[in-house]
This record gives sequence, C-alpha cells and structure tokens, in this order.
Amino acid sequence: MGEMNLKMLLESQTLQRAPFPVPMGWYFVDYSENLKPGELRNINCFGQEWVLFRSEDGAKVGVTDPYCPHLGAHIGHGGKVCGEHVRCPFHHWEYDVNGWCKKIPYAKLMPPVTKKQAVLRTLPTIEKYGMIWSWYHPACEPPAWELPYIPELEDATGYTGKRRGSWTANTCIQEIAENGPDVAHLKFLHNAPMIPPVEVSYDGALMNIDIGRGYIVGKSYGPGLNVMRFNQKNPATDQPITATMISYTVPVTHAQSQMNMCFRHVDYAAGSSELAFTLKQIDHMIGAAEGEESAGFESVDFIVWNNKRYRPNPLLCDGDGPILQFRKWFKQFYVEVDPTQV
Ligand code: FES
Ligand SMILES: [Fe+2]
Repeated sequence: MGEMNLKMLLESQTLQRAPFPVPMGWYFVDYSENLKPGELRNINCFGQEWVLFRSEDGAKVGVTDPYCPHLGAHIGHGGKVCGEHVRCPFHHWEYDVNGWCKKIPYAKLMPPVTKKQAVLRTLPTIEKYGMIWSWYHPACEPPAWELPYIPELEDATGYTGKRRGSWTANTCIQEIAENGPDVAHLKFLHNAPMIPPVEVSYDGALMNIDIGRGYIVGKSYGPGLNVMRFNQKNPATDQPITATMISYTVPVTHAQSQMNMCFRHVDYAAGSSELAFTLKQIDHMIGAAEGEESAGFESVDFIVWNNKRYRPNPLLCDGDGPILQFRKWFKQFYVEVDPTQV
C-alpha cells in the first residue's frame, strides 16, 4: 500500500457550506403585482434588509438601504412614500429612487453633498417580465449587462402559463446553478434514463447549455436568471413542442437562496393534444408527472443542497459534466470591495 494522503481524507473537516460572498447580478425582487402604488415594505436579500417602495403614481420602484443618512433611523419602520420619494419617519427627509436627498423640510440650505451625489444607497431597479429586478453589486457599480428579451414572458399574445413556485434552499446560489452542468446527477438523483450529453459555451455573463442534444436548451444571464427550453415531440402529432422554465434565484444571504420559477408555453387551444402534452412536460419539470419514474428538483435536489458542503477541489471522473469550467465562469460574479473605499 502506498503512502496515504491524509490531507485528502481530512479535508471535509475544513469545508464550508457556502464559502462565497453574494455574487453581483440582476435579481428578482418580487412580482410587480405584489407592490401597490404608494406601498413600502422591508425585504431581505443580498445579506441585508432593504426598503422596497413604489411611487404614488405607480411608475417608479425603489430599493434602498434602510438606514437614513441623517441620524440612522430605519426608513422601513414608520417611513412613507410621498409622491416619487420615500420619507424617513424621524425628521421627514425625503429620497428619490436613486438615493438622492430631495427634500429636508426644515433646512434653509441643503447639505452641499446632496447636490453632488446620492447619499442613500439604492439598487438600480427596473420592472420587466411583470417582475421587479434589482442590480446588486457589492461596491455599488452600475449594471454590467442588461436583462434579455424573453419572448415567453414579454410577447403579449403568443404565450401563457400561470404556474409559479418559490422554494428556499440553505445553500449559496452557485451550488444551485451547478446542477445545470452536473449532468450525471440527472440519472442518479433524478432517475433520468441516461446521462445526457452536455455542451456548454460561455460569453461574458452569459452561459449557454445544451443537454441531450437539443432536448434542453438553456441560457443563464448571470447568476440570477436562467431560461431553460425543453423541446420534445408531441407523440400525438410528431410535431415539436417547447415548454419553458424560467428560474430566478435570489441570494437571501451568502448561504441561503430563494429559488423562484415560472413555467410558460405557447397558448395552445383548450383540449388540444399540444396543451395536454405541454402541461405534462411541465409537471415533469417540477416533480414526477403521473406514471413517470423520474424525480423533479423539488423532491430530491433540496435534500442534497440543504446538507452538502462545497468542495473546492472535487474528485471528478470522466463521466462528469463540465463542472470546473462552470465554476470558472461563475467566479467572475464575485467581486472584492476595496477596503480603502469603505
Ligand atoms: S434620521 Fe431620517 S430624517 Fe432624521
Ligand atoms: Fe437537480
């Protein structure tokens, strides 16, 4: 017997569950319909609390740091929306959605800095796909890419699908995303009939993935938005049918993620074989569809995610998917904050 590698055997003692900061990216905050004009509430994401509000005319949405630059009151406890601004409860200073102080009701002269820059941290926030999205960057840099056009969510006439879900996983967002290139687990954890072939390509913040030679074609736009198109032939007509799973996971903290999904498909006629087949495909994505052996993520992935630890030096074999390439791609979303700037 050769020399035993003790380091390898004892490495698990040093492993952490989520050894990463919150990655930069565009993230889902809430569905637009859940925030009424003039509404304000506290939310938790990206490892801290934020104040989410909508202007009284409904047009603007803001996500701000909770602590007022004046004397540190929590704007989300007693604060109020006034027109387009959020107003701190303590002395009624008002801020716009970009964090500029727009009004101090008792100041004859506004503090000079308020003319030069935003004084309250806010996140760039937009509404798209009927959802509120914020750009998170630990050093407050502006968005590095744009959210894409997703026809299934934006084409007003062609698509439908009300099915949505939300699940919390006690792991970091990278571990959840690694499921895509980890094609071997599809067979063993999800009971897929085989390990499908996988092809992955990367282009900046975009990752393209093809699983099973066109069976699942996916695109990830940074860590917070993933579109997976499942292509199959309708057995009744032999025509191709696509069902789309859009997932938008939010890092609640660096170690806890909220996974959100919706499922969309072409608006087929009620009672058609196309509709029946598409709905079955969607059932299959979520959990086991009736009469199927396979297991969807809801039933099995969470058991793994909630209990695993991250292995920075995994022991891989030739049948594994391109996991290390994926990790290299993902690394670009972790940014260091220059400590001299804070
Ligand atoms: S602490 Fe917010 S206005 Fe004074
Ligand atoms: Fe999985």
